[in-house]
Amino acid sequence: MLLIREEAVDRMRRDHDAMLDLIRRIQALCSEQDRGDDCSCCSDDRRAFCRSHVEQLVRAFVEATLKHNAMESLYMDDGVPELHRRAHNRAHMAIAEQLKSIRIVLASDGNTVRAIEGVDEVLAALSTHFVEFDGHLQRYLMAPAA
Ligand SMILES: [Fe+2]
Ligand SMILES: [Fe+2]
Repeated sequence: MLLIREEAVDRMRRDHDAMLDLIRRIQALCSEQDRGDDCSCCSDDRRAFCRSHVEQLVRAFVEATLKHNAMESLYMDDGVPELHRRAHNRAHMAIAEQLKSIRIVLASDGNTVRAIEGVDEVLAALSTHFVEFDGHLQRYLMAPAA
C-alpha cells in the first residue's frame, strides 16, 4: 500500500514538472510582450506561427492540468479528511475555470499575448495550489496508515 502511495506522490511531482514545463514553453513563445497587449506589432506570418503554436501548447496544458486534477481527486478518496478533499476539489474547479477562459479568449481572437497573460495567472494560482493543497495531499499519502 505504501508503495502505491509513493508512486502516487511521484506521479504528482512528475505531472507538476510537466505542467510547469508547458507553461514555460507558452511564455517563451512571445518575445514582444513589452510592445503592447495584442499581437498588432508583429507580421501576419509571425502571428500565424504564434497562433498555431500557442493553441497547440494551451490545449496540451489544459488537458494535462484537467487530467492531473482528476487523478489527484481519486487519490483523495483514500484517507484524506473530508474538509481538505472538498476545499481541494473547489480549488481545482477554480483553476479549471481559469483554463476555460483562456481557451475562450484564444478561440475568439488568437491573441498570443493575452493567452500568455492568462497562463501567467494560472501559473500564480498553480504555484499557490501546490503549496496550500498538493503539499498537504502528499503528506496525507505518505503518512503511516492509522
Ligand atoms: Fe497537483
Ligand atoms: Fe491539487
